[in-house]
Amino acid sequence: MLIKAFEEKEIAPGGMKAAALGGREVVVCNYGGTFYAVERACGHANARLERGALTGWILTCPLHYAQFDIRSGEALSGPAPKAPDSKHADPADPAHKTRSLKTWPVKLENGAVFVDIP
Ligand code: FES
Repeated sequence: MLIKAFEEKEIAPGGMKAAALGGREVVVCNYGGTFYAVERACGHANARLERGALTGWILTCPLHYAQFDIRSGEALSGPAPKAPDSKHADPADPAHKTRSLKTWPVKLENGAVFVDIP
């Protein structure tokens, strides 16, 4: 089912914005005028990905810096290892694998961005 997420002009190229659509938490990304929709929760430990950085088609998580391809949702890299002097658990512990993100098809119509949520 196509659900309207945003007006195209609400997300500048290189930008992204989160929305709840059809019971899913989605981040809509604008990569050079092409829009992509990926799940909002990071595949490592569920950080909100719209708070991360979008560089080209690579979305970097704000928490431990895992990276994802917004075109496919593929996890490109896992979290960065902890600093040697950190007292926190190592986010790169292999027990916490980074899964790829779900993605949904996007359609543009009359200046609006629609996401196809089944
Ligand atoms: S929560 Fe995203 S890399 Fe850890």
